[in-house]
Order: sequence, then structure tokens, then C-alpha cells
Amino acid sequence: MPHRALLELRNVTIKFGGLIAVNDLSFTVNEGEIVGLIGPNGAGKTTVFNLISGVYRPTKGEIYFNGENIVGLKPYQVCQKGIGRTFQLVKPFGNKTVLYNVMVGAFLHTNNTHVSREKALEVLKLVGLHHRKDMLAKNLTIVDRKKLEVAKALATEPKLLLLDEVLAGLNPAEVNEAIEVIKRIHRAGVTILLIEHVLKAAMALSQRVVVIDYGRKIAEGPPEEVTNNPEVIKAYLGERYGAARN
Ligand SMILES: Nc1ncnc2c1ncn2[C@@H]1O[C@H](COP(=O)(O)OP(=O)(O)OP(=O)(O)O)[C@@H](O)[C@H]1O
Ligand SMILES: [Mg+2]
Repeated sequence: MPHRALLELRNVTIKFGGLIAVNDLSFTVNEGEIVGLIGPNGAGKTTVFNLISGVYRPTKGEIYFNGENIVGLKPYQVCQKGIGRTFQLVKPFGNKTVLYNVMVGAFLHTNNTHVSREKALEVLKLVGLHHRKDMLAKNLTIVDRKKLEVAKALATEPKLLLLDEVLAGLNPAEVNEAIEVIKRIHRAGVTILLIEHVLKAAMALSQRVVVIDYGRKIAEGPPEEVTNNPEVIKAYLGERYGAARN
């Protein structure tokens, strides 16, 4: 059987005025993979997610999901196709309960309250937030807010989940806990593309990483190979990471 990528970006470019935020970028994510998208601040990572999820339309290039070009679809249509995402800045409905917030996601596929409630409870269990279901979202700790963000995305039943820096701001123990949650989601059959600044975590989770700098891909491969790539070390990892590895 010929192998087909679940997600494929082909020569994707977007310009904001004079700034080329994503520049001729091509990469694939295969079904069942966890792929890391890494790069320095301002490299264009979140913009890539906005392009995939239909928030922005590329100036040039194509984006295929399940073999279908999804360029031009609205965000809710992309979501209906099976791509869920989290946002770097989490914005739940603070005065609503955790359960309510997750049910909003589940209503993408149903208008039955019972069905959406069951789905929401299922994903809350998966991310380990079930015991907080009746709490107002604004009262959650940071780590639980992150879990809520992931649960909201999961409630839309994605085949592909885009995670934008869900580990940022967590302490080391919380990072480890969140890594276990991500692994659990992956084992449940969800393909994952993740943006991560906590490099150790990105490396531990990803089978493959794609490194971008100034919107361009500068390296791609298994984590251990990429971290030894001189261009990557120069652009991003720097001496701090180099020192940490020795
Ligand atoms: N809507 C926009 N209009 C103009 N410029 C934008 C827009 N969105 C992003 N940019 C610019 O595109 C570049 C890439 O931004 P992006 O947010 O994708 O970076 P990032 O890799 O996610 O960075 P970080 O690690 O800080 O989250 C930046 O220079 C940013 O200022
Ligand atoms: Mg970003």
C-alpha cells in the first residue's frame, strides 16, 4: 500500500506586509507519529499552526490533510475534518465550569447535550482533570488550565492534535505529568504535532523533529540527529543546550 502522510505542507509561504513569517516550508506528519516543531522565538511556529488550522491563508503553497487540500477552509471546517489545536495563550470561559468549557468542543460533532457531556467527561478523564469538572475555569491552577486547553481540543475528536507550548510555565514535576498525559493521548490513537520550548520534553516525546528559523526549515530528523546538526546548534540550541548535554 502506498504510504500517504496524514498532514503535508508543500512549499507553504505567508507574508505579513514585508515580513516573510513562513518561507517555502515543506514537511509531513504521518499517521501515528509525534512530530516536534521547534525553533527560536519568532521563528514562525505558531504561524504554522494558524496556517494549518485555517486562521491564515498561505500566500503560496498547499496544505494536505488526508490527501485533501485544506487551504481556504475556515477554522471550524478544518476542525470538522479532524484537526484540533490548543492556543499558546489559553482563554477558557472563566466563569463557566471546566465541564462546560469542554462540552463546547464536543458540540462540534453533536447537538445532543447528553452525548457532548459524555464525550467531555471521557476526555477529562484522559487528561486527568475529571476531579475538577465542576470548578470554574478561572480558579484552575496553570497546569490544570493547560490540561483544560488540551481537553477542549480533544473533545472535537481530532485525528491530528496541534499542541502549542503546552508545557510552558510548568515546573519540572508538572512537565513530567504533562508528558505522561501527551503519551496517553498518543496511545489513544491521536497523531500529534507539537511546538515546544522545553527542549528535553520535545526530544523525549517526538519521533521526529522539524526545526525552523526565520520561517524556513533548517533541519529535520530524529531528535538525536538534529541536536547534533551544527546549523541547529548555531541557530537555536546555542551553548546552553550544548553545555547541558555534556
Ligand atoms: N498576524 C500577524 N501580523 C504580522 N506579523 C505577524 C502576525 N503573526 C505573526 N507575525 C510575525 O511572524 C513572526 C513569527 O511569529 P510566530 O508567532 O509564528 O513565532 P513563534 O515561532 O510562534 O514564536 P514564539 O516562540 O515566541 O511563540 C514574528 O515575527 C511575528 O511578529
Ligand atoms: Mg508561538
